[in-house]
Amino acid sequence: MKKITIAIDGFSSTGKSTVAKQLAKALGYVYVDSGAMYRAVTLYAMQNGIISNDHFDVEKLIADLDRLKINFKYNNAIGFAEMYLNGVNVEHDIRTLEVSQWVSQVAEISEVRRMLVFQQQQMGKEKGVVMDGRDIGTVVFPEAELKFFMTASAETRAKRRFKELLERNENVSYEEVLKNVESRDLIDSTREDSPLKKAKDAIEIDNSSLSLEAQFEKLYAFAREVIEKK
Ligand code: CDP
Repeated sequence: MKKITIAIDGFSSTGKSTVAKQLAKALGYVYVDSGAMYRAVTLYAMQNGIISNDHFDVEKLIADLDRLKINFKYNNAIGFAEMYLNGVNVEHDIRTLEVSQWVSQVAEISEVRRMLVFQQQQMGKEKGVVMDGRDIGTVVFPEAELKFFMTASAETRAKRRFKELLERNENVSYEEVLKNVESRDLIDSTREDSPLKKAKDAIEIDNSSLSLEAQFEKLYAFAREVIEKK
C-alpha cells in the first residue's frame, strides 16, 4: 500500500502530538514533532545568553544558526524519537514553561523557520510520516494527502497543559499556563512568516469534548480511507 503524508496543525496544547503519535504507531509511520525543533532552538538561545530575562538578541541567534545541530533519535524503550541539541538529549528541558514563554518569538524569525522547514521536508521526503505543528499543511507539506486542523477552547487546552506540567513537578500556576497558551496563539496566528491558519483542504477537529480514544478513532478512520484509495 502506498504511503501518504499526514499533517496535523493547530493551536498550542490541542493534543496534536498525542494523536499524531498514536496514528504513526497504528500506521507504522514516522512521527515528527516540529514544535520540538523550535523549542530546541529556543533552549539553545537561553543556554547561550542570547535570551535572558527580557532581552532577546535576534541577530546573535541568526548568526549562530549554523552552529546548531538539531536531530531526533529513536528511543526503543519509550517507542518514539527524542530531541537532541548538539548531541545532548534535551527532550525534557525543551518542555518547560520558560521555553514556552519564548518559543513563539523565536518561531517568528524567518531564518529560523527556513532552516527548520528544510529539515522537516527532508524528513518527510519518503512519505509515511505524521508531522504536527503550525504550518505543516500550509507551508511544509502543502501537498499532504491528509490534513487535520485541531481546535479546543483555550481553557480546555490550558487545563491539559497545566496537568502535564504538574506531572513533571514544575512549579507553575494555572493562570500562568493559560496566559502562555493565549499569548502563543496570538503570536503564532498573527506573525508575518507562515502564520498558523487552517489549510483550505484540512479537516477541522474540535476535541474539547472528545476522549483520546474517540479522537484517535476519528482520525484513524480518515487515514484508512485515504490510504485505501491510493
Ligand atoms: O505542544 P504545544 O502545542 O504547546 O507547542 P509545540 O508544538 O511544542 O510548538 C511550540 C511553538 O513552536 C509554537 O507555539 C509555535 O510558536 C512554534 N511552532 C511553529 O511556529 N511552527 C511549527 N511547525 C511548530 C511549532
